Amino acid sequence: MKELIFVTNNKHKLSEIRQIIGRYYTIKSLADIGFDEDIEETAPDLEGNALLKARHIHDRYGLDCFADDTGLEVDALNGAPGVYSARYAGENASYADNVSKLLEAMKGEPVRTARFRTVIALILDNKSYLFEGQVDGEILTEPRGETGFGYDPIFRPLQSDKSFAEMPAEEKNAISHRGRATEKLQSFLVRETKEAK
Ligand code: IMP
Repeated sequence: MKELIFVTNNKHKLSEIRQIIGRYYTIKSLADIGFDEDIEETAPDLEGNALLKARHIHDRYGLDCFADDTGLEVDALNGAPGVYSARYAGENASYADNVSKLLEAMKGEPVRTARFRTVIALILDNKSYLFEGQVDGEILTEPRGETGFGYDPIFRPLQSDKSFAEMPAEEKNAISHRGRATEKLQSFLVRETKEAK
């Protein structure tokens, strides 16, 4: 099977992506290729950060790879935390810190609409491609559920009564931002694999 490097060490993301495209490609993480530095996410948007991460690894190792960047965009906060979702409550903020800060910022706010958006940048045979996935929903008033990660306990997608953290992984993947972006990546890769034969 062909190999693709996923520019991440996030175990949740790795297992989500492997569930979706692991049938077609062997997905390796940064740890698998011995890369343990931080790649600074300095771009002003998700597209820029995803490309920056993929290019960094491609320039260093010359391997086909993809990187993702995700943001939670809350309407009442003018799209915040957005591209700053990972460090919303500070540089080394935990998931719990970020969730608390967001709940505090949304206290008493009646307009709770929000969306998760993921951009995946793929570099394959020296060409780059972007894939996007989005899921609309609302910010809950308190955390619910134990699965998933990040803002999952306080995000309820529109098409469900459950928060992302109350869903088994497959249920979340079927409708999530990353699931949708990954499906687009997968369709593209499957087409490429067939055309290469
Ligand atoms: P990243 O830049 O793609 O790592 O995502 C930024 C931040 O968004 C992460 O640190 C998480 O807090 C949050 N995030 C990303 N994906 C998800 C998800 O699927 N569910 C909940 N939170 C997420």
